[in-house]
Amino acid sequence: MTGINGIETVIYGVEDVATCVRYFVDFGLPLIEHNERDALFELEEGSSVILRPLTDAQIEGQKLQGFGVQQVIWGVPSQKYLDRLVTKLRAVTEVKFDVDGTARFFDCDGIACGLRLYNKRDIRGAPDPVNSYGNINRLNVQRKWRLKANPKTIEHIVFQVSNPQASWEWYRDNLDFRLSDIQEGFGVFARAAGTNAHHSIYWLRADLPFPGCDGNTRFNHVNFGVEDLDEVMVGANYMERKGWQKSVWGLGRHRIASSVFLYLPCPAGGDAEYGADSDALDDSWIPRTWNSQFGTMSFMHNLQPWIFDETTWEIKFVEGTTPKGKSSSHD
Ligand SMILES: [Fe+2]
Repeated sequence: MTGINGIETVIYGVEDVATCVRYFVDFGLPLIEHNERDALFELEEGSSVILRPLTDAQIEGQKLQGFGVQQVIWGVPSQKYLDRLVTKLRAVTEVKFDVDGTARFFDCDGIACGLRLYNKRDIRGAPDPVNSYGNINRLNVQRKWRLKANPKTIEHIVFQVSNPQASWEWYRDNLDFRLSDIQEGFGVFARAAGTNAHHSIYWLRADLPFPGCDGNTRFNHVNFGVEDLDEVMVGANYMERKGWQKSVWGLGRHRIASSVFLYLPCPAGGDAEYGADSDALDDSWIPRTWNSQFGTMSFMHNLQPWIFDETTWEIKFVEGTTPKGKSSSHD
């Protein structure tokens, strides 16, 4: 697959580096080095998480506000492809190069981004087979026991922006992203073309009546990939034992992407999400538009008031992605 192959690095701007180092070590990220002003974690796939004091992490001219990720470096598989993207980008925004060859630019929301060669490593997973009635996949074999979570990948990032549709179109036109799904009234999910992730980025409407949404462009969360639902919950229990704040929603599964989720409040800003068992997509996927509540979850541990009642089962294919003359409705 040609195209951006994932998030190579996220750079957080934080209030207290030492507390955030402790948090992400407990969360399960491998710490490579740190001092009072800087910390580097490197995940097994080769991606990095960098922590810095907010003023050091911010880039002059950025429109992103508050703590959390201040810079996203997207990975590209070859110099040829990087050059091609830079040529495209230069038609719409200024692009500068670091000494290490990283191309730097602002996206349409004023979020500081980069493009860098990324030799992403394949991760081996061996999730325990699942037993069900009449379908024995583990006979005299127990499931894996873990002490804590060990996320191996960065799956996606989420920002709160004023116009998710405009953000999506900018990434489609300038970075070759693919549309995954639209959550009506809430936001847009898009995939970097060089990955099979359901989404590499989600833009959530900044003016929704949710905590932390105040109309400004803000970081929301990063999703870190673990092997399965058990690892999600072992990680959550470990974080609780270490004294970190509990998840508000608890364990759940989204309908959009079919993914298992658990969002933990993060002292580095926003949430840190444990993610597992997501749908995988390629260019054969036909994007859908979802009723926002229906798409949010098939279950969650702590039902929230805005999603307490059963919602309308509503899903349809996005206009323009189905053959002409055929119904685009699922119902
Ligand atoms: Fe997420």
